[in-house]
Amino acid sequence: MKELTLGASAKLTSPHLFAAIVTKDDAGRVNIMGASWITFASLRDAKMVFCISDSGYTGGIVESTKKASLCFVTEKIADKIFKCCTTSGRTTDKIEAFGIALSELEGFDVPVPDGTGVAFSLELDEVVGGCDHGIYVCSVKKAVQLSEEPVVMAFDGYSRVGIL
Ligand SMILES: Cc1cc2nc3c(=O)[nH]c(=O)nc-3n(C[C@H](O)[C@H](O)[C@H](O)COP(=O)(O)O)c2cc1C
Repeated sequence: MKELTLGASAKLTSPHLFAAIVTKDDAGRVNIMGASWITFASLRDAKMVFCISDSGYTGGIVESTKKASLCFVTEKIADKIFKCCTTSGRTTDKIEAFGIALSELEGFDVPVPDGTGVAFSLELDEVVGGCDHGIYVCSVKKAVQLSEEPVVMAFDGYSRVGIL
């Protein structure tokens, strides 16, 4: 038996889910962060959960607007979404900086990046706090498939993304 840090355990339990959490602030500015701490949480009612660091920009926007699109992406857009993990929407307009094209979808309050495979339109129910990440419990308003290409996952303890 070997005791592990959480970082080391993340490498050993890879791959992990990876998705873009897309938000739109009250001024209409869209931001994207990449996230792995996501899970399906309930089927009836349909719920998804994601965990966002208190130090990031996205959490505050989800709390104020109560809306997000959660987008599992194909290889077409994976590099650009991975870049969205390297900087904060607080200081960078990532949509412009990384040349990300967005599309509006029926039933979605927040646009989705082109190259998305599976997208969920989410509405925030509650945030469970306490540690350095908030746990965002969301209702799924709509789920859609936009491409038949596989969606990417995060490998090697979140150090790269790719298909299985
Ligand atoms: C593969 C990968 C997965 C990540 N997963 C999460 C996550 O689940 N939650 C989180 O808060 N940050 C996660 N991050 C870090 C955020 O993407 C990063 O802090 C980002 O800059 C936050 O953007 P924002 O400040 O615009 O919200 C992850 C980073 C990588 C590379």
